[in-house]
Amino acid sequence: MKVLIVGNGGREHALAWKLYQSDNVDKIYAAPGNDGMLEIAERVEIKANDIESLAKFAKEKEIGMTVVGPEEPLVAGIVDYFVERGIPIFGPKKQAALLEGSKAFAKDILNKYDIPTGEYEVFTDPDNALNYLENAEYPLVIKANGLAGGKGVIVASNYQDSQDAVARIMEDKAFGDAGDRIVVEDFIEGEEVSIFALTDGQTILPVTSTREHKAIFEGEEGPNTGGMGSYSPSPYVDAEMMDKICREILRPTLHALNSEGIDYRGVMHVGIILTESGPKVIDYNARFGDPETQVIMPLLAEDLIELMQKTNDVKLKYKKEIEIYDSDAVCVVLASAGYPLTYKTGYEIKGLENLKYHDDLIVFHSGTKFENGKYYTDSGRVIGMTVVGEGILSVIDTVYNYINDVEFKDMHYRTDIGFTISDVPDISVD
Ligand code: GLY
Repeated sequence: MKVLIVGNGGREHALAWKLYQSDNVDKIYAAPGNDGMLEIAERVEIKANDIESLAKFAKEKEIGMTVVGPEEPLVAGIVDYFVERGIPIFGPKKQAALLEGSKAFAKDILNKYDIPTGEYEVFTDPDNALNYLENAEYPLVIKANGLAGGKGVIVASNYQDSQDAVARIMEDKAFGDAGDRIVVEDFIEGEEVSIFALTDGQTILPVTSTREHKAIFEGEEGPNTGGMGSYSPSPYVDAEMMDKICREILRPTLHALNSEGIDYRGVMHVGIILTESGPKVIDYNARFGDPETQVIMPLLAEDLIELMQKTNDVKLKYKKEIEIYDSDAVCVVLASAGYPLTYKTGYEIKGLENLKYHDDLIVFHSGTKFENGKYYTDSGRVIGMTVVGEGILSVIDTVYNYINDVEFKDMHYRTDIGFTISDVPDISVD
C-alpha cells in the first residue's frame, strides 16, 4: 500500500518511521514533510492545509491511507472531503474534531455528561469576561476557544494576568478568530499526563500514557512551545490508574459523543490532571501529539497501518488491547534559541553521523534542510532525540549523554525532561 503523511514535523517523521516498518506499506509520501524524512519518504510540495490538492494527489497516486498529523486540516474537514470522494484517510471528521477545535464545545460535553473536569465559564464579550475575572479566585486558566498551536492557554495568577490575557486573546487577536470566545477554567492541581487512545466510534482502546514538557525553559518557565520533550509511559499511570481513566473518562467520552450523534474515529489524545480526587480532563486533541508521537511510535508493538485500518473499518472490538513494548522512551527536543518567538535558522547540524551507531537512539527531524551532504537547522524545533531502554531514569541519562555529541549554533534544549519522575508520589485509586 502507498501511504501519504500530511504534515512536516517530528510527529510526522515518527509516523513515517513506524509505517516504514510495516510489511503492508510499500511507499511513503510526505506532504510537505521535511528533509530528515528523505531516507524513508518522498516529499511532495503540498501544504498540510491545502485539502483539495492533497485529495487530488491521493487519488492520482492511489494512496491506500492518508495519515493526518496536525490538527488544522482535521478541524477544517480534510477527512470529510476525502471520505466524500472515496479516498481512504485516517482521522476524525470535522464535527468530531471539534473536540479539539473548540474548547467551549469540549467543556460543554464534559459538563453535560458528568466527565470529571474543572469548573468553567465561557465568554464572547471581553467586558463580561473582565467583570467576572475581577472578583474570581486565582489561579485560573484562560483559554482561547479555537486552535492556537498549543499557545492559547494562559495560567493567570491574579487579575492583572487576566486583563493581559483577555487583551491578548480577545482584543489584540493574537490567535485570530480562535480568540472570539474564551474559556475560563479552574486551575487543577496535580500531575499532568496525556493518554492516547484509538477509537472506531464503538470501541475505545488506550494506547499508552505520556508526559510532555511544554514550556521553553527548565522548571516549566517561559512561554509555551509546541513541546520541548516527552516520555512514555508515565510512571503515574499504572494498570489500575489506566483502568480508572478508561472507566471514568475514555468510555464516557465515547458514550457522550455517540449520544450527540458524533461518529469519532481516529486518535483521541486526552490531557488529564491526576488530582487527589481522581483524574480530571483538561483538554482533548483529535490527533497524535508532537513530541509525544516520538516516544509512542518506538514503543508500539503493533503494525500501525493495520491499527488504522481496523479503526476505519470499525473493527477495534476484535482487539483486546493495543500492545506496547515493556520499555521506556524519552524524547528531548533540540530547538533554535529564541523559539517559540524569534529565531535564526540555516546553521549546520554537526555530529549526527556519529549517532547512527547507537541502537537505542532514534533521531526524528522536526525542521531540517539537507544540502550538499549536510543537515541545516530550518525551524524552531529542529530535531527530537528519542532513546528507548529499560528504566526511565537511566533512559533520561542516556539521552542527555547522546545530546553532548550534537552541535549547532544557537542550540537550545531543556535539561530537565522527566525531572519530576524521581519523586513519584503515591496517587491512590479508589
Ligand atoms: N505536544 C502537544 C500536542 O501535540 O498537543
